Amino acid sequence: MTAPNIETIVSLAKRRGFVYPSSEIYGGLGSAWDYGPLGVELCNNVKQAWWRWMVYERDDIEGLDSSIILNRLVWKYSGHEDTFSDPLVDCRECKTRLRADKLNDGKCPNCGSTDLTEPRPFNLMFRTHVGAASEEDDSSLVYLRPETAQGIFINFNNVLTTSRRKLPFGVAQLGKSFRNEVTPGNFIFRTREFEQMEMEYFVRPGEDEKVHQEWIDQCSQWFLELGIAGENLRLYEQPKEELAHYAKRTVDVQYRFFPEREDAEKQWDELMGIANRTDFDLRTHSKKPEDAEGKRLNPDSTEDLSYFDEATKERFYPYVIEPAAGVNRTVLAVLMDAYTEKTNDKGETRVILKLHPALAPIKAAVLPLAKNKPEIVALAKSIKRSLQPVLRAVYDDTGGIGKLYARQDEIGTPFCVTVDHQSLEDNEVTVRDRDTWEQERVKVVELEGYLLKRLNK
Ligand code: GAP
Repeated sequence: MTAPNIETIVSLAKRRGFVYPSSEIYGGLGSAWDYGPLGVELCNNVKQAWWRWMVYERDDIEGLDSSIILNRLVWKYSGHEDTFSDPLVDCRECKTRLRADKLNDGKCPNCGSTDLTEPRPFNLMFRTHVGAASEEDDSSLVYLRPETAQGIFINFNNVLTTSRRKLPFGVAQLGKSFRNEVTPGNFIFRTREFEQMEMEYFVRPGEDEKVHQEWIDQCSQWFLELGIAGENLRLYEQPKEELAHYAKRTVDVQYRFFPEREDAEKQWDELMGIANRTDFDLRTHSKKPEDAEGKRLNPDSTEDLSYFDEATKERFYPYVIEPAAGVNRTVLAVLMDAYTEKTNDKGETRVILKLHPALAPIKAAVLPLAKNKPEIVALAKSIKRSLQPVLRAVYDDTGGIGKLYARQDEIGTPFCVTVDHQSLEDNEVTVRDRDTWEQERVKVVELEGYLLKRLNK
């Protein structure tokens, strides 16, 4: 099935409380979005799924949570101060600011003019000042991190020593990153504040290419396991001229975010990048970089981030394989992929969000068939309360049963649990499956186990 376009998702997201335009009561703030009651659950579930896959289900990866604001020198030596920029051009006709690398045939996409300024680099890092310092005081200048990765590299020795790890091993981190994007847009696809899920995997030089390929395969597999259709995913080998300053090879996992575009190639864009960063980062942050040409000399660092291999008595800088994904883009991809329309017996078209149960914001909705019958309401509420310590459940009696089912289908709730008159006699409830609309009677005492089993399938 081809995914719907982003506009369909924007409308569903706002209507049902997944994502709202930010600062809306003050006219909004370009390309900033707030996650509502369902959106925050979906984001948390994506992050939890990633953390479980990266950290809990493996033996070789540790977690970390470093600061967003780091010493400015981190960004000097990482290369971001000098090179983390987009080529900016201005349209002299309509004054629009554009990215030179995204222009169609050298024409302004806004007015069609070809009267553009020469490209100039525009650094994407947000600047601020620490302490009670003035804007002009350069010594207090700091940046909001544009990637979480550097927090991992500067803690390499700390993690190595405290976890007593040996190569190969990885460090995972997720959290907010900030980029002053020249052309943000397409809903939550490209924003200036976003969340990343990154893992830096340290290996012996020489083993990097093989391990890189293994991660490329595993990462595609993870998205499939989240329920994204294989036909909407593909791998993209970045050509040499697109590579970041630190990368030897990068392969992106792309998603078909823009199915409505005529040019098939432009339908795809990055969901996750899997880079071979070589030993660039550990070497550049080390106080004694062993660079024959004297490049990347670092007189500011107090540590050497090389690794000593006890077995071979060798000292070297490990190579780094980095799978880096965006939380927000993953949320967008799973929403687009889960979006389904189904027509019922009466010819009414319903939206069903076929989210993977692990990602669904609400796992079960408990619904009383008759809200004017106190015993039914009381039983339904007690069932909801008994489920809530183990799974996210809600109680809803604000409509007829058909409407309540439709509402839960539209937000991706895998199961509706209906309490009816008969439930008072036989202590059984009806469990309705979101995807098949099939119903099954289940004993109240067995409900929790039944739901957990089906949710974890
Ligand atoms: N440490 C490597 C790194 O940051 P990247 O390809 O620039 O690599 C990784 O970013 C992921 O972060 C991207 O695949 C994307 O999912 C997400 N991302 C990057 N910039 C973003 C933005 N402006 N808005 C939303 N997500 C973004």
